[in-house]
Amino acid sequence: MQQIDGLALRKVLGAFPTGVTVMTTLDATGRAFGMTVNSFSSVSLNPPLILWSQSLSSRSYTAFRDAERFVVNILSEHQIRISKQFSTASDDKFRNITFRSGLGGVPIISSCAANLECVKVSAHPEGDHVVYIGRVIRLERSEHRPLVFGDGRYLVARAHEHDELSAVLPLES
Ligand SMILES: Cc1cc2nc3c(=O)[nH]c(=O)nc-3n(C[C@H](O)[C@H](O)[C@H](O)COP(=O)(O)O)c2cc1C
Repeated sequence: MQQIDGLALRKVLGAFPTGVTVMTTLDATGRAFGMTVNSFSSVSLNPPLILWSQSLSSRSYTAFRDAERFVVNILSEHQIRISKQFSTASDDKFRNITFRSGLGGVPIISSCAANLECVKVSAHPEGDHVVYIGRVIRLERSEHRPLVFGDGRYLVARAHEHDELSAVLPLES
């Protein structure tokens, strides 16, 4: 069997660009937690389910483990600073962050491409991460374009030139 080291895996997974989210929640004392996450994905449309995975070594691990709810804040292309702030260890992650309180008081970050308020339905520990499944209970989409992350860099999303052509030319059969 081929020996797969973490660095090599991360490099290869960089060939699959993703959006960038900040997951937010509250602990039992009402303290807000947030972390940058690109392992977010859709699971099911009916019922509306999504997933993401969290490293067991995250400082906010117990907060998300014990929380009933979390919010998926899908960052927009002008929110790199927010991505960096929430991926850096700090006791003051919400400094200079504009947000409002969603259901259960969980922070909803302003000016995102989209926000999904979720109830956690299950947690599945696997390897050094835990996979959370959330049920979407409220959602909104803005006009902002999403921030993209791939090959270890921040990217912007733009329409593919061939996608523009597909509007005027029939698809090849
Ligand atoms: C673009 C990007 C995506 C990330 N995705 C994840 C992820 O899916 N899961 C995870 O556990 N950490 C992820 N991280 C790392 C966390 O954001 C980082 O470890 C953060 O400091 C964790 O916060 P905490 O220790 O306060 O909980 C990502 C970082 C970046 C920059």
